[in-house]
Amino acid sequence: MFKKLLVKARDARWLWDMFGPIYNRQIYNAIFELYDHISLNIDVDTDSQILDIGTGRGYMALQLAAHFPMTSVVGIDFSPMQIRAAERLRKKMDVGNCRYQRGNAMEIPFIEDHFAAVVSVGSIKHWPDPQKGVSEMRRVLAPGGWAVISETDKEVSDEALRRFMARFKAWYLWNLLLSWGLRHIIFGESYSQQEIVAFFKAAGFKNIQMQNIGTCPYVIVKAQK
Ligand SMILES: C[S@@+](CC[C@H](N)C(=O)[O-])C[C@H]1O[C@@H](n2cnc3c(N)ncnc32)[C@H](O)[C@@H]1O
Repeated sequence: MFKKLLVKARDARWLWDMFGPIYNRQIYNAIFELYDHISLNIDVDTDSQILDIGTGRGYMALQLAAHFPMTSVVGIDFSPMQIRAAERLRKKMDVGNCRYQRGNAMEIPFIEDHFAAVVSVGSIKHWPDPQKGVSEMRRVLAPGGWAVISETDKEVSDEALRRFMARFKAWYLWNLLLSWGLRHIIFGESYSQQEIVAFFKAAGFKNIQMQNIGTCPYVIVKAQK
């Protein structure tokens, strides 16, 4: 019951509006290799557009904008506070080919076939209907375009979780609490690689590929429209 309430809070917009800045401060150092890996492993043409869903402070979007300077990147998030934080960081880093707007993964505010690539990192576990979100990704993706979903791995080993935890500098959180929260609320209530593959299959994607990077216990699944 208590765990269910925590998971519900984890997925609520108010939580991201209030506590997004705490997550944003911690996450970059913990998963920057993942952002790198994703941007190095998608193909897009010059002058095309890329979408990042559940962009948070926009780390993935900024990485894509830097890696593909001739494209235009859009980050959406359902939290207005996260969008403001992303915009502040974009301005600070003086990145021109990236913009943010509010948008819900359940109803992506773009027309069909619009993007050359669509990515999402750490967001799908928060979506009330992940299958609908993956179908929405496919709808806004141009034919032949790639979608990438990366998410905390529900099947993470204790050892990998310990290594991951060591990357957080949350001195204000008791280690036992952090470890319990990561295991039971974040990773434990997330998805396995096979579950994400199943969402892609059911949405009609092809060429589904599973990837991993050793330093980061996130699943990475890539598929083509
Ligand atoms: C764990 S954070 C990941 C943020 C970012 N992708 C990163 O790598 O740091 C999850 C993000 O998804 C957003 N989010 C959750 N549910 C969403 C939904 N239904 N539509 C759009 N964004 C959502 C939250 O506001 C939050 O910013």
